[in-house]
Amino acid sequence: MTLQDFLTEADTIEREGTAALTVAADANALEAARIVFLGDRQGRVKALQESLRAIAKEDKPAAGKRFNDVRTRLDALHTERKNAAGRAVASTTEDLSLPARRRWQGAKHPVTLVIEEIDAIFRELGFTIAQGPDAETEWYNFGALNFPPNHPALDAHDTLYLEGEGLLRTHTSPLQVRTLQKYEPPIRVLIPGNAYRRDFFAASHAPVCMQIEGLCVDEGVSIVDLKSTLNVFASRFFGAARTRFRPSFFPFTEPSAEMDVQCGICAGAGCAACKGTGWIEILGSGMVHPRVLDAAGIDSERYTGWAFGMGPARMAISRYKIPDIRILYDSDVRFLEQIAGSALNGTER
Ligand code: PHE
Repeated sequence: MTLQDFLTEADTIEREGTAALTVAADANALEAARIVFLGDRQGRVKALQESLRAIAKEDKPAAGKRFNDVRTRLDALHTERKNAAGRAVASTTEDLSLPARRRWQGAKHPVTLVIEEIDAIFRELGFTIAQGPDAETEWYNFGALNFPPNHPALDAHDTLYLEGEGLLRTHTSPLQVRTLQKYEPPIRVLIPGNAYRRDFFAASHAPVCMQIEGLCVDEGVSIVDLKSTLNVFASRFFGAARTRFRPSFFPFTEPSAEMDVQCGICAGAGCAACKGTGWIEILGSGMVHPRVLDAAGIDSERYTGWAFGMGPARMAISRYKIPDIRILYDSDVRFLEQIAGSALNGTER
């Protein structure tokens, strides 16, 4: 074979191979073109290689160079076309209009959301946050709060006693005393924390629950401040809801009152959520008893104050319309996700 014939044949294979590989419309057609041109046994490139043997020795370098050229180009074109076909197949199996999957990233517990909201409201009114130990002494939990020994009010405060002097605090009110011992009036603090009582787990009761204590002590503080501050709080937290104060009793406040908020579900008409009364009890409150101030070393002739204690779990239940308080303790993320979702969509948060 002359060099001229060889080069002509190489041109033809290159031209026809390029065309065949380029027009192949899918993976099958591409594979068919590959076999014809680049196939190991009967491929036309292979045949061209074999015809090199018949080339005169002095023409071999030129022929060999041209052969390598053709093979390299067709190989590269084949690889490129094959990759493109792969991409085309992949993209037909993907629906690019599908919404992206968003992963559940966790969220704050409903009670935490409520505490943060309460905190934000009182912060604007000048309150700061204080915290203290869950394991208390009898004196802080009862004695300093004017519970006489053997007083019937202690019945509602049965708890776990620890070795030695300690007990699990039955309310956050011991922090009233600790705060009064530590700071000079004027004092305005909000105290969130756990409280423990000998209670059964029931739809509206739990043996462990969060409480938020509030305390305000200064010169000239009166029950007007108590009512007006708590009314501002209620209107901020519950919207334009009506409130009422009912006389009550706590050893550490005098006078004492429970504050109710008109039921948001039935607007006061009476329903299951408010047990037919039209009102939901949200906190206990009162004027700090002078004996509590004295016990903490604050001059009760000069200073007066008011305090309250509320249950954020109760408020979470009414805010998010949760039928059973025990759900708040289950840590079932399917439930928590719903609340977190409604909290995100329903408020300015
Ligand atoms: N500590 C009371 C309770 O747990 C609530 C309370 C706090 C009442 C402060 C009055 C003042 O029931």
